[in-house]
Amino acid sequence: MAPDPDVSRCPVLDMTARDPHRQNVELRSAGPAVRVELPGGIIAWSVTRSSVIRALTGDPRISRDPRRHWPGLASVPEGWPMGPIAFQQNFFNLYGGEHRSARRRMAPSFAPRRVSALRPGIEKTTAALVGAFRTLGPGEAVDLRHALSRPLTMTVICDLFGVPADMRPPIGTAMDTLLTTTATNEQMTRSRAEINVVLTELLALKRRDPGPDLASDVAAVDTGDGTGRSEEESRDILFLMLGAGYETAVNLITSAVQALLAHPRHLAEVRAGTLGWEAVVEETLRYESPAMHLPLRYPLEDVDLGEGVVIRRGEPILLGFGAAGRDPEVHPERPDDFDPTRPDKEHLAFGYGPHFCLGAPLARLETEVALEGLFGAYPDSALDPSRPTPPRLESAIINGPAELWVVPTPALAAGV
Ligand code: HEM
Repeated sequence: MAPDPDVSRCPVLDMTARDPHRQNVELRSAGPAVRVELPGGIIAWSVTRSSVIRALTGDPRISRDPRRHWPGLASVPEGWPMGPIAFQQNFFNLYGGEHRSARRRMAPSFAPRRVSALRPGIEKTTAALVGAFRTLGPGEAVDLRHALSRPLTMTVICDLFGVPADMRPPIGTAMDTLLTTTATNEQMTRSRAEINVVLTELLALKRRDPGPDLASDVAAVDTGDGTGRSEEESRDILFLMLGAGYETAVNLITSAVQALLAHPRHLAEVRAGTLGWEAVVEETLRYESPAMHLPLRYPLEDVDLGEGVVIRRGEPILLGFGAAGRDPEVHPERPDDFDPTRPDKEHLAFGYGPHFCLGAPLARLETEVALEGLFGAYPDSALDPSRPTPPRLESAIINGPAELWVVPTPALAAGV
């Protein structure tokens, strides 16, 4: 299908994400990039082919900075559902040398060696959360997203940043809304204002009473006298780290549990010791990437992608990292099947190039520990037969089950 120059006929990117993988198949087959309509009538180029995403993420002609490189920014409505991610003022949306130096300040805290030291704490939190399932009656189900994945990832990232207990629920609730792409502009504006209040309080607290935590480090660089970073940037760094730290990993854990319970053969292989948790985690990243379409990037000059597609300077680009893992050019064999035994599990779930996810080692560790903890205690767990198909999150940005009802079941005696 040749790309259609008439933007009035371009497909609408489904913000309800009812069937994201099907839409990705259509987008991928339409060309190396295809125009889609986003909320508010904003037109962007959707890129869902792995090779094109790789090329664009590493291309120095592509910026992330909307304030400098998106001429259309002025027409974006207040409370635009993709705005909280696209317009945050931190290194996520910086480009070139500015991005490198801003990212460098945070990166050492998430280096693999620092992260592996977190394992005992993550195991302890997991054990406490899984231990609480003991109070369930026989055959009783629990929503695993809300009883394990969410509190685990929230606790890990908030402990690292020294977020007091009373600030955690409002941060979590506002983040959830800000990643729901079906929320109204008013809900978005309200949630952004609410989270700003809490994060501003957090910065003030850490300036008054610093501790051995990462929010205190962020607050210390914001000197408030114009010589460090601005208050807004410091606040948005906390927004990025707390949001990225929890909203994605919660979906990786929940999707991994769902995939394993839907494919008990692979769970049996793990139990038999012929398959490692690491393989399950990587295959989940490929098969059900927690990050789907990430807004936005802007070319500094016209970029010719071939097949008659030229993205003009300043036209926004939406990279579909979550589509890359199922690209048949990369995985010609059964791209839509969950199979942790496949030798090549290549994916772009953590992005690619200079903005590659800072939290990848942490997300992998949390997920492995959660799976070990859950299936170590409840190896014969099963999906709740009365709720086998969970609703999906309504988000074109984040991908995962909105809930997952599981019956935690200890090892059944052989022959039972
Ligand atoms: C399964 C879990 C996760 C997934 C799928 C994921 C996915 C991604 C992706 C796709 C990007 C690249 C964005 C782009 O280039 O447009 C990214 C960037 C980022 N992620 Fe993650 N992430 C996860 C967990 C985490 C965690 C736990 C943290 C925090 C500790 C984190 C922090 C970040 C940061 C700070 C960036 C921005 C890096 C930059 O712009 O230089 N992520 N993530």
